[in-house]
Amino acid sequence: MQKLKVFGANKLKGQIKISGSKNASLPILAATLLSNKKIILKNLPKVLDIKTMLDLLKSLGSKIKIKNNQTIIDNTKQKNFFASYNLVKTMRAGILVLGPLLAKYGSAKVSLPGGCAIGTRPVDIHLKAFSRLGVKYKIDHGYVIANAPNGLKGNKIRFSKISVGATENLIIAASFAKGNTILSNCAIEPEIKDLVKFLNKMGCKIKWISKRTIKIIGVKDVKEIFYSVMFDRIEAGTYLIAAAVTEGNLKIQNIIPEVIKTEIDILKKIGSKIITKKNEVQIIGNKKIKNLNIRTAPYPGFPTDLQAQMMVLLCKANKSSIIQEDIFENRFMHVGELNRMGAKIITNGNKAIINGNINFAPAELMATDLRASVSLILAALTAKGKSVINRIYHLDRGYENIEKKFKKVGAKIKRVN
Ligand code: EPZ
Repeated sequence: MQKLKVFGANKLKGQIKISGSKNASLPILAATLLSNKKIILKNLPKVLDIKTMLDLLKSLGSKIKIKNNQTIIDNTKQKNFFASYNLVKTMRAGILVLGPLLAKYGSAKVSLPGGCAIGTRPVDIHLKAFSRLGVKYKIDHGYVIANAPNGLKGNKIRFSKISVGATENLIIAASFAKGNTILSNCAIEPEIKDLVKFLNKMGCKIKWISKRTIKIIGVKDVKEIFYSVMFDRIEAGTYLIAAAVTEGNLKIQNIIPEVIKTEIDILKKIGSKIITKKNEVQIIGNKKIKNLNIRTAPYPGFPTDLQAQMMVLLCKANKSSIIQEDIFENRFMHVGELNRMGAKIITNGNKAIINGNINFAPAELMATDLRASVSLILAALTAKGKSVINRIYHLDRGYENIEKKFKKVGAKIKRVN
């Protein structure tokens, strides 16, 4: 099992190039199943979840070649519609192949994703919405067995709760349904906008008709395309917080600052100096960090995927803060580890009270989920001495070359077996 050794404390200085978005790439890769033409994708991040999704597509019959920073997907011989547990269990986004397989074949057998450290991760909203398109399904031995004997039929669907995955699954499926579909109460994360751009470039007919409502006119076929995936806004937010927490000075490049306006505004409120350019944000961390209360929310609110990282920063604030986690039911797994480093965080349900004026002490740590793992690195970067972070495969699921990027800006960090 690999570990990361981090020798703190030092200020991060320099430039970091942000990779392609994991959470835009996953639905776009699933959506390639709609096509039986060649698709070339650029800027997919080299992270474990993308490798797992590519393995899942290969298990469904897609031919995949990777050349330089391009992934060529050829589905001319793709015909299997069974997505196995061993590929879906480690990556919940595997459920996103259900939509395209139903759209293309009218039937699919996909493993239920199963829970994970941050919650049970149900898919009831996906399934209820599919039944509105004429899908009959049953759950059998941990698999969703779904059929639409007469093909998918367009319909009006209102999501009972904002769900990123359900919105993505239904947009993809409805793109090939007979007739028109209106989806309302949609999630509007930038990754979903990127998926819609990709589908429309392939020849689908999808239009946002209001903030959270989308109209989809079903099509029968799509064309060969080349597409470059958007930047990873969570990776960008993570490195912005790394600069703030180490009183560093970082230029975060290959991004669109407008997309992370909420995060930038919050970091300004906390006391960081921020200079935005066309595709870059420079952040200069302030010695004095102001406390702040935060609630996670669907986009454009504060992202749950930056909650753990922000908690580390608020430990360094001048007074206590409260973070309320309103998206997932169990996303405070990092609190125990941070308290072992000297933090004083008390959780009560979905609220965490974070005492300020903390100096983290180095420790031997255990990563639990992707974003909790990176929050341990942020704390370790400010702790004087050597910290060791175990189970870093969680990190490798979603951060490309993380120790290389940190090392390039002055962090003393190395991966050991
Ligand atoms: C996506 O997960 C992201 N994953 C998550 O990022 C992100 O935290 C989440 O959206 C919220 O922004 C990908 O894009 C691959 P949801 P998803 O459906 O689609 C409940 C990361 O670190 N729910 O918006 O699974 C659900 O349990 C990952 O990159 C139902 O109850 O999130 C959660 O409490 C972690 N029934 C809430 O809704 C359903 O059918 C939001 O989930 C679906 C979801």
